[in-house]
Amino acid sequence: MKILVVGGGGREHAIIKKLKESPKADVIYCLPGNGGIESDAVCVPIKATDIDGIVRFAVEKEIDFAVVAPDDPLVLGCVDRLNEAGIKCFGPTSRAAIIEGSKVFSKDLMKKYGIPTAKYETFDSFEEALEYTKTAPLPTVIKADGLALGKGVIIAETRDEAEAALSSMMIDGKFGKSGSRVVIEEYLTGPEVSVLSFTDGKTVVPMVSSMDHKRAHDGDEGLNTGGMGTVAPNPYYTEETARECMEKIFLPTIKAMNAEGREFRGCLYFGLMLTNAGPRVIEYNCRFGDPETQVVLPLLKSDLLDIMLAVADGRLSETEVEFESAYSCCVVKASSGYPEKYETGFEIHQNGEISGEVFFAGAKKTEDGRLLTSGGRVLGVVAKGKTLKEAIERAYADAEKITFENEYMRRDIGARALSAGA
Ligand code: AMP
Ligand code: GLY
Repeated sequence: MKILVVGGGGREHAIIKKLKESPKADVIYCLPGNGGIESDAVCVPIKATDIDGIVRFAVEKEIDFAVVAPDDPLVLGCVDRLNEAGIKCFGPTSRAAIIEGSKVFSKDLMKKYGIPTAKYETFDSFEEALEYTKTAPLPTVIKADGLALGKGVIIAETRDEAEAALSSMMIDGKFGKSGSRVVIEEYLTGPEVSVLSFTDGKTVVPMVSSMDHKRAHDGDEGLNTGGMGTVAPNPYYTEETARECMEKIFLPTIKAMNAEGREFRGCLYFGLMLTNAGPRVIEYNCRFGDPETQVVLPLLKSDLLDIMLAVADGRLSETEVEFESAYSCCVVKASSGYPEKYETGFEIHQNGEISGEVFFAGAKKTEDGRLLTSGGRVLGVVAKGKTLKEAIERAYADAEKITFENEYMRRDIGARALSAGA
């Protein structure tokens, strides 16, 4: 089969490497991909948000199956347009991708169908939002309605911070149209768990759970980033919690989307918080998580292409989805200064054999074949182990061998999971 993957980060690299294992996969194109992905797919510089360009390319190359990985093309209707052009896809239509595209939509959906989440109010007037935060309990959580590159959530500890957040979103337009409406919600506490799931709108099959490390520095200090590392499975996510989530969250969400005439087919990501009162949905994503995918897919034993085709065709219940009972750890190496200002253009070296895999995110290839850094998050080093401790040790040993000037990584990926008893 001729396969097209839309996107160009570590997540897409992990998806491509897994798809390549399938005997059905012949050529894999990646739009736009990156210099590191070039060793595993044919990368073509068409942006993931250039829907016309993607459809034109897919038709011209007679693509058999397309996987649309990032949120923005999904919300923009990339799958709808490819389907109209006769191309089978893995990923939700734009009507279903709204579950991530609008926080107001997802919060209202959860309220209407009794799916446990933080209490909230929505506002499209700055004055009314400000009035509400004057008496709301602190800390208070302020979320831009639309997509904001993972930066649209502010946890305000004081009333002044709440006012500053509202004013930057609703008056200064920090996130453009995404911030003209906001959700203000109750602050919850507890361990966070990411659960990616395959769903064809009828069956939902959760993948192994994982734990992200969103803050830039050790000890969960510093700014929020796109994710500095992950481990899987997440030790806080017990079998009992998994059962509860299936019954109270996963199945009800699939049913709710169907009842709204927005059948979801693709990867539905549940961002959960395990509070004392039970699991709560913090967010839905309409796609694979990054860097969760980099630890989850290496543990998948079944054929990813078969699963994705079954999701697209509505045959997921007949398809085998099996994971190894092992652990994996992803350590992200970033450009120092990320997520703020950083320099790029440094050569990436590998010194000696590594035991795991490297998934590239911000890397470009020079004409003479050298790899240079080109982004904030440069790459993720992923290793597996029989125990979490072993996976972490291997990932860090590998990370020491992949080097570039100005590099930065957290040193404590998985430390909390280990102390939780994994
Ligand atoms: P998101 O961009 O929606 O993933 O949110 C970013 C982070 O903000 C989450 O991973 C949580 O750590 C935190 N967060 C979001 N909503 C809440 C909430 N209601 N209570 C506490 N923390 C939250
Ligand atoms: N790692 C969080 C996300 O993909 O949104």
